[in-house]
Amino acid sequence: NMLRVDVGPLGGWHLDVAAVINNSAVLITPTLACQCGFSMNTGQLGNTMIYASLQNCFAQNVDDMTFTTILNLRLYGSGKVEDELHQVVKTCHYTLWASREIVCDGSYMEASECRANSVTDPRRAKVPIDAGFRITTLVFFTPEERVMKVAEAQRSGYGIANTPTRLVLRSSKASPETYSQTVAGVPMTVLKTSIIFEKKWLVTRLDAAAACPALEGSVFFTENTISWFLPWHIDPLISSGHFQLLEVHMGVAGERLDPAEMAARQYSLTVNEMHVVVEIPVGAVGGHFKSRVQDNQYFSSYMIEPMVELLWVEDAMQEDTKYKVLLPITTPMWRQPPQVIDNTVPEERRFKVLLGHFGSDVFLANITFPGEVMSVADCNVRGFNVLEHVYPNGTSKFFTLEVPFTDRVVLQMSEVGLTTYSLHLTFGLLVLPEYAPFSHTAYLDAKLVDVAPPSISGSCDHQNFYILVKYGTPGFNFQTIVGKQMLTSSLAQQYNLMENGTHLSFAVPFSSPSVVFEVRSACNYDERLTRKLHLLCVFSELSLACNYFTTLTECFPNGTMTALAVKLEAVHSLNPSQLTLRDPTCGPSYSDDRYAYFVFTGNSCGTTRRFLANMMLYENEISLPDDLEMNLSHAPSRLKVSCYYDVNKTHAVAFHTRPRRSKPYADNAKGELQVKMRIASDKFYSMFHSLEDYPIAKFLLQPVYFEVELIGSTNPEVSLEMENCWATLDSDRMSLPRWNLIINGCPNPLDPHQVIFHPVLADDRVRYPSHFKRFEIQMFAFAEDKDNLSQQAFVHCDIVICDTRNPQGGPCNRLCSNQENGIKGMLSHFLVMETNVFKQS
Ligand SMILES: *[C@@H]1O[C@H](CO)[C@@H](O)[C@H](O)[C@H]1NC(C)=O
Ligand SMILES: *[C@@H]1O[C@H](CO)[C@@H](O)[C@H](O)[C@H]1NC(C)=O
Ligand SMILES: *[C@@H]1O[C@H](CO)[C@@H](O)[C@H](O)[C@H]1NC(C)=O
Ligand SMILES: *[C@@H]1O[C@H](CO)[C@@H](O)[C@H](O)[C@H]1NC(C)=O
Ligand SMILES: *[C@@H]1O[C@H](CO)[C@@H](O)[C@H](O)[C@H]1NC(C)=O
Ligand SMILES: *[C@@H]1O[C@H](CO)[C@@H](O)[C@H](O)[C@H]1NC(C)=O
Ligand SMILES: *[C@@H]1O[C@H](CO)[C@@H](O)[C@H](O)[C@H]1NC(C)=O
Ligand SMILES: *[C@@H]1O[C@H](CO)[C@@H](O)[C@H](O)[C@H]1NC(C)=O
Repeated sequence: NMLRVDVGPLGGWHLDVAAVINNSAVLITPTLACQCGFSMNTGQLGNTMIYASLQNCFAQNVDDMTFTTILNLRLYGSGKVEDELHQVVKTCHYTLWASREIVCDGSYMEASECRANSVTDPRRAKVPIDAGFRITTLVFFTPEERVMKVAEAQRSGYGIANTPTRLVLRSSKASPETYSQTVAGVPMTVLKTSIIFEKKWLVTRLDAAAACPALEGSVFFTENTISWFLPWHIDPLISSGHFQLLEVHMGVAGERLDPAEMAARQYSLTVNEMHVVVEIPVGAVGGHFKSRVQDNQYFSSYMIEPMVELLWVEDAMQEDTKYKVLLPITTPMWRQPPQVIDNTVPEERRFKVLLGHFGSDVFLANITFPGEVMSVADCNVRGFNVLEHVYPNGTSKFFTLEVPFTDRVVLQMSEVGLTTYSLHLTFGLLVLPEYAPFSHTAYLDAKLVDVAPPSISGSCDHQNFYILVKYGTPGFNFQTIVGKQMLTSSLAQQYNLMENGTHLSFAVPFSSPSVVFEVRSACNYDERLTRKLHLLCVFSELSLACNYFTTLTECFPNGTMTALAVKLEAVHSLNPSQLTLRDPTCGPSYSDDRYAYFVFTGNSCGTTRRFLANMMLYENEISLPDDLEMNLSHAPSRLKVSCYYDVNKTHAVAFHTRPRRSKPYADNAKGELQVKMRIASDKFYSMFHSLEDYPIAKFLLQPVYFEVELIGSTNPEVSLEMENCWATLDSDRMSLPRWNLIINGCPNPLDPHQVIFHPVLADDRVRYPSHFKRFEIQMFAFAEDKDNLSQQAFVHCDIVICDTRNPQGGPCNRLCSNQENGIKGMLSHFLVMETNVFKQS
């Protein structure tokens, strides 16, 4: 029996409502609203609801079944250039009329009575009041009788209408003809009338009454709950003793709600002995907060318009009554000091602030920090992340923001080991729609123990890197990555990791795969090799380098040489297992992805020998075979392997230039023997060039006098014999070009200037002539060298020590035959001689 039109939100604008009838609009003033069945309510955020009785004065009523109401709405006010006009046409069908329908709206009460069923006196027969009857007079019972003509009553603000089947009477709750009556402890406003109808000489009357609860005395507030007590036996409206309450419903904003919806909203509706009790939590859905500002203080009240509908019958008269009360309830204004909740976790290094709780009509305009005022947008640009949050029940909200400690609005004060961060801020807030400003100031402090990050240091000895991590202040968790490997517990064990409350230490052996090699300077590869350990703790990085002085090449007195070729970090693609010595068939004895380890002897794998002053130099090279080298992206690299043997200290040990004969004659012997080859400066072998003289310059064809001497032997039974001598351009005895001077103890027959052997006779210096050999060559030039005679030539000799008691032919018996026999290969370190001469034209 009511219709509702929602408008809004209106913001700050005004709304005029006019009803349209016979093509003219009638502005609904408050007085007219009470008289004609209109009311208007402002809801959340300025939404406006217009309620109208179906039977309002301006409704086009078709047979009391279809009701059409046309409203003109005009929006105007500040900021609107032109008025905004809307027309709303609402048509409702309503046929389930009860005998009596009573509506209690906020400001008016309405009674709609069925004329046909009404009787004035239960003892008389029912007299239908048909269309011919006119209302002439109203009798109010206040409770004294007061009689008023219809026109007078209408002038006094009563709405009286006589529709095809019903009588409608409407009155302001404040009209003088109402009176107050307490029903079940609840004060009610009562309007009781008898309405006189006349038709020619016929007169009849109809009683019409309404009773509505007053707000005061029926509604009670606590801070959290609204309780509304409504009597269900409304005495002024009930005339018989046969009363039966059939239905009780509850709704809000004019709409009935089902029990599930009520439960969701935490509304409660109970019926006790005398009352229907409605309980609504303050803040529940369906209502809204209205905020107010007074002296910069924030107040709010909660508003809701619950509705209760009752249906009862009075058996005796077969009359049913629909009774509907809409009661706009506003809680008292309560001061709600805004709350600032400090959710800061200092370790996150930002203030986290919550400001609440406010009605949804409150807006945050700006925030004032020391020295600057920032709008919400400014704050968000600055990264303060100001957010507005609405509670799920939609009626209240709060704000949050975050201010990093590093922002300039945060003040810092440091004491020993403790920094205090302070934030002083004033929130500028506005209440809509009035734009009433208010502010709230908050001071926040956060203390943070200064954090010292862990530190890391390291050192090394000749075997290990030692790493020491000093913990920082607690809470600094970190992970350690050694090289490319996470420091797992199994690695930790391997690295002998130790931990006490303040430190962590471990040792990484040089053999660890995490250790890489690096060359600091390419000039002396062996000596400057550096082992490098890269360590990463999440807080810092340490790259520790230790020079590695351990010899990569080892030279054993027995002639065994070992060499370790190490892959450098810079040469990823190298596969150490592919490295070889000069002789490509000599690969590493073992290798992995970082090393190749070679074991070889001085007479194998292409090792060369050279004599220096009192020293022998054995040399080889480690490199990739040429075909692989070509495929590498980096420059070819060769690792030179050198062994110096001190001639004086070297133990003579069997050393085979050729496979050993199956029937050796002499026993292998060990002794400290040495042989030297010198160039005499005269043909009498009385003077010799000293070591410093080399290279010695000679003209072509000039004689060069060589003497070879076995030193340190007092055994007259041994003799020194020449086996082969040859000349090369290079110090490498195997190099080409090569010219043979002596072959198997005999001069090279092809030589145009053959070697001349000179006899050796005993003298002061020569005690055992058999320990000496002397020969002469004529200086020559290599064909390859004919254009450049300033180059050096090297003369190399293989010699043999023979047992004179048992000459076995070959060089030992000096037959200059091709037979090869004897004890060649003995005393290997001394078998190879070389010296160099310098050619000059
Ligand atoms: C509207 O017009 C009808 C007939 O045209 C008239 O009876 C009625 O009184 C008018 N209503 C108003 C409010 O002027
Ligand atoms: C509204 O929601 C807030 C937050 O969920 C809650 O604290 C408050 O009690 C709710 N109010 C009602 C009436 O449900
Ligand atoms: C900040 O907002 C408040 C409203 O709460 C207002 O009164 C004040 O003028 C604003 N300050 C500035 C600088 O805009
Ligand atoms: C922990 O170990 C470090 C380094 O070994 C040492 O300097 C320190 O004194 C030790 N601390 C304690 C409490 O043992
Ligand atoms: C030479 O000496 C080294 C070191 O003593 C030894 O490992 C190696 O086996 C020896 N080689 C020979 C052929 O005896
Ligand atoms: C070197 O590269 C060439 C062409 O990429 C390839 O054919 C050859 O097999 C490679 N050699 C080796 C030894 O990998
Ligand atoms: C080696 O011995 C010779 C002669 O015995 C001597 O003159 C020379 O100084 C020695 N060399 C070294 C390096 O000891
Ligand atoms: C001759 O050889 C020497 C030594 O190898 C070299 O320095 C020089 O440049 C050469 N001269 C010519 C013209 O080839």
